[in-house]
Amino acid sequence: MIPPVIGYKRHFAKCKKNFMDNTFLPLTPILHPWVQRVIEQPTSLFQAIERQGSPINIHHLSPLKENINAYEKVLNKYQIAHKIFFARKANKCLEIARAVAQTGQGVDTASYRELQQCVEAGIDSEQLVLTAAVKNRKLLELTLQHDIPVVLDNEDELQLAQGVAQKKEKTMEVNIRVGGFFVEDKRLPTRFGFPIDRAIACISDLADKYPNLEYTGLHFHLNGYSVKERVAAIEQSVRVIDELLTYGIQTKSLDIGGGILMNYLQSEQEWLDFHKSLREAVLGTRSELTYQNDALGMVKINDQLYGEPTVYPYFNKLHKAKLLEEILTTRSAIFDVPIHQLFTERALEFRMEPGRSLLDQVGCTVAKVVFRKKDSEGRLLVGLEMNRTQLRSSSADFLVDPIHLPKQQNQKTDDPCYAYLVGSYCLEQELILKRKVYLKSYPEIGDLILFPNTAGYMMHFYESEAHLFELAKNIFV
Ligand SMILES: Cc1ncc(COP(=O)(O)O)c(C=O)c1O
Repeated sequence: MIPPVIGYKRHFAKCKKNFMDNTFLPLTPILHPWVQRVIEQPTSLFQAIERQGSPINIHHLSPLKENINAYEKVLNKYQIAHKIFFARKANKCLEIARAVAQTGQGVDTASYRELQQCVEAGIDSEQLVLTAAVKNRKLLELTLQHDIPVVLDNEDELQLAQGVAQKKEKTMEVNIRVGGFFVEDKRLPTRFGFPIDRAIACISDLADKYPNLEYTGLHFHLNGYSVKERVAAIEQSVRVIDELLTYGIQTKSLDIGGGILMNYLQSEQEWLDFHKSLREAVLGTRSELTYQNDALGMVKINDQLYGEPTVYPYFNKLHKAKLLEEILTTRSAIFDVPIHQLFTERALEFRMEPGRSLLDQVGCTVAKVVFRKKDSEGRLLVGLEMNRTQLRSSSADFLVDPIHLPKQQNQKTDDPCYAYLVGSYCLEQELILKRKVYLKSYPEIGDLILFPNTAGYMMHFYESEAHLFELAKNIFV
């Protein structure tokens, strides 16, 4: 609707005010030294973009090894036999799977191609597991051919696995996925696995019903990041494991899946300030912080805000190895010993499948500035040669400040601006970040924008080739 002429001026003034009335609300990223070096000496980055096109994903394998070491250190401290399986779905580069395998740990695969590439790369079958949410005959034949354990989720999968193994007259090693754990008398809802209270019935029948399947372990993966829920899931799984033993059925391993938090941001205060200000902005008491005042998943009804932003907790204090240690040292209310003892007392192998948290600091995404313009309401838009599927997860936005790398190193820095970063898909919603960003200098065409810490999910999980744009190239420093 075209606003009436008199209202139009007011409308424009309001928009201008909304956009200009800014207080800088940073969300400062934690940067690994390798990223610092790239930022300080970006010449090779500019060259790489010229060679490979924009955007590119750059990776470094040192942080991956540091992250694995940190988990191993905790598990060794409590003398727990363990295997860490990197969840490949979080990043598709085979180099990462290979590097994990070289440390002696394993890879959790979720599709035929993920698994096949690992097999072809020579990764030992003992270092592989298949957890794919959907498994067809071809996939199970591949696992059987290479003696790779499979995590089975439902009765139909058990039947399919039995059929595949029987046909080849072989035994297939299987773990059983369980879910629906009880926390404070409420069931954790899930679409995955056998309900924990049905697990004994299912597994005790297995040898009779499915003679070509060999049960070796239990598996779960929980939505969310709660320590308490993971502790409850371990306790309830161990109860099943103990009862199975009374039927003479031994469980070699318990796999707790992934979902261990990582931390992207330096400052808790910045994180809290952003959330407080976002609420104010959406309620209209301060200037917008997100494009067209996007509430990032909160709902506004009659000047009331409901819910929380549906974003990853980019700042959190308890993460990675510390979070693992917190789980392992929590005292079990059921068994009255710390969780780590549940594993050591039973010689039960502890398995985990971290995806995102092993990729902390492993990669960045870098894109080239191609245009600057104003939208119809006066907001500065900076066009990047990339699309939003190349920086996307299930979080409503990636709440981490990007870094502006001017092409001219001596570009004057006294011309700061706020902008929205937009991409190449032909949608009004094609925002690379919904959040308004602050740039220390007005961007020039050919400058680069670096998004830090994107290796876990951000760069690959949702990437698409709409408009036939090529996928971003992945390079290793
Ligand atoms: C079965 C399973 N294991 C591991 C993971 C990895 O989780 P995260 O990347 O949060 O550690 C997932 C993620 O969806 C999963 O479904």
